[in-house]
Amino acid sequence: MKNKESVKVRVFRCTPENGEDTGHYEEYNIPYEAGMTVLTALDYIYEHIDRSLSFYYSCRIGKCLGCFVDVDGKPVLACTTLLKDGMTIGPHKKHKLIKDVVVDFREN
Ligand code: FES
Repeated sequence: MKNKESVKVRVFRCTPENGEDTGHYEEYNIPYEAGMTVLTALDYIYEHIDRSLSFYYSCRIGKCLGCFVDVDGKPVLACTTLLKDGMTIGPHKKHKLIKDVVVDFREN
């Protein structure tokens, strides 16, 4: 992808502990730089737009497998998946939702 000013992504938002049983997607504009990943987009949202966004990561190099999310309905590692305009980022559907894109991998 060529450098462009920004990309739009849709990110699933839901806080079950507050009684929400269905979530929704929010759209965010992210300043784009070549080489950005889904994880750096989530980082950007957290650092610059919405501190309430929850996501998980540890190693950032594709080793810990903690950053699994669904992108456009397919499971990917957020830290190794290059960011593209129009992506929809959500939680893994096969696991219990904790908040936003964070799931409990111990439970199916
Ligand atoms: S942060 Fe460890 S695999 Fe992505």
